[in-house]
Amino acid sequence: MKIAILVGSLRKNSVNRKIAKEFIRLAPNSMQMEIVEIGNLNLYNSDLEENPPQSWKTFREKIKNSDGVFFISPEYNRSIPGVLKNAIDVATRPPKNNVLMKKPAAVATASGSGISGIAGNMAIKQAIIFSKMNVLPMEIYIGNMNSLFKEDGKTLIEDTQKFLKQILKEFEEWIEKIS
Ligand SMILES: Cc1cc2nc3c(=O)[nH]c(=O)nc-3n(C[C@H](O)[C@H](O)[C@H](O)COP(=O)(O)O)c2cc1C
Repeated sequence: MKIAILVGSLRKNSVNRKIAKEFIRLAPNSMQMEIVEIGNLNLYNSDLEENPPQSWKTFREKIKNSDGVFFISPEYNRSIPGVLKNAIDVATRPPKNNVLMKKPAAVATASGSGISGIAGNMAIKQAIIFSKMNVLPMEIYIGNMNSLFKEDGKTLIEDTQKFLKQILKEFEEWIEKIS
């Protein structure tokens, strides 16, 4: 199965992106996970629908061809980062071609604090409920994220790797159940 990962941070050294890469590394062969970039998407404006920008067309096609969408994001001001909200807006329009409609989804948030982005996680779920996405019923919060990496700064510590593997297993089973 093909999983599109949407990362809610554009930073080169984004911890959420590092976590996304760990998900890709730890995924079983049956799950092909790919980060679909969202930083180049024009800000949503329905005036552009007459002749949609190539960035929107490519993005919508990639989401359409995926079996599930994995949101991995920081929380910004107790909510969803603007770049991720824009990507969701682009994916859902025009309504008859909403590429998120009824797709399986998983929502993970990571934060440097112990509160672990719970409010941001809920805000992402709020933004995808209109699209009737089948959200994995699992709370995926990764708190104190800066302390979860090994000395190489890329590989997660064993306990967190175990957590990620459990999430992948549950997401795979969830997608199979939904479809
Ligand atoms: C505009 C902005 C708002 C932020 N708001 C929150 C917040 O509400 N809660 C939180 O835990 N961290 C917040 N942070 C801190 C981010 O969690 C932190 O910058 C984190 O490293 C971002 O994830 P990244 O490493 O993937 O870029 C905010 C950061 C920025 C830039």
